[in-house]
Amino acid sequence: MKKLILANLKMYFNSKEDVDKYLNELKNEDFIAFPSYIYLEKFINKGLTCGVQNISVHDIGAYTGEISASSVKNLGVNYTLIGHSEIRKQNETDEIINQKIQIALKNNLTPILCVGENLEAYNQKQTKIIITKQIKDALKNINKEIIISYEPVWAIGTNKTPTSEEIEDIINYIKNLFTYNIKVLYGGSVSEKNIETLNKINNVDGFLIGFSATDPSSLKKIIEVTQK
Ligand code: PGA
Repeated sequence: MKKLILANLKMYFNSKEDVDKYLNELKNEDFIAFPSYIYLEKFINKGLTCGVQNISVHDIGAYTGEISASSVKNLGVNYTLIGHSEIRKQNETDEIINQKIQIALKNNLTPILCVGENLEAYNQKQTKIIITKQIKDALKNINKEIIISYEPVWAIGTNKTPTSEEIEDIINYIKNLFTYNIKVLYGGSVSEKNIETLNKINNVDGFLIGFSATDPSSLKKIIEVTQK
């Protein structure tokens, strides 16, 4: 089955000229883009499938600075990341993550739930305990299908990754927590340099890519390798 390639563009672009340059260098590559909200329309107009990096727990109303699931859905967005570690560390609790998943599903956005351990937990071999709790709490009272991305916190933006065996083991472990088939991605320092190796991991359904996805040639190489 074709692997999913997700480009988490974070806050890497800060001018519309840079975004135009980026989009001009892409042709018909098959990936899902998660740009800043303010550039969403540019990506959608280019014909790209889009997601957002976060959504509000609220649907509509007096919530200064928040962006609702319904507003991005109305713009043509189909996915949302939820529980990315860069947002979890701003006091996003598992309860909030659970509410965000519910509101995403209510608005027909597919949630990509990000889970992963920090370095201390990794060193203490606590990964499975941590991600089991993150998944159970995030999916409390939810039985609709979502996508999960395994992203060790210590592998994000560090050029470090777990071994292929470790990633395969965690992905199998996550899949076995469910009675139905679920897509599980890997994210954390995926690049054009390690994609050949990562792509050989059994059972990985795709990749969530941050920094490397901001370079069109790296992104194209990653897509090419994963579609072979
Ligand atoms: P990275 O980020 O590829 O820059 O490590 C991945 C992510 O945060 O989703």
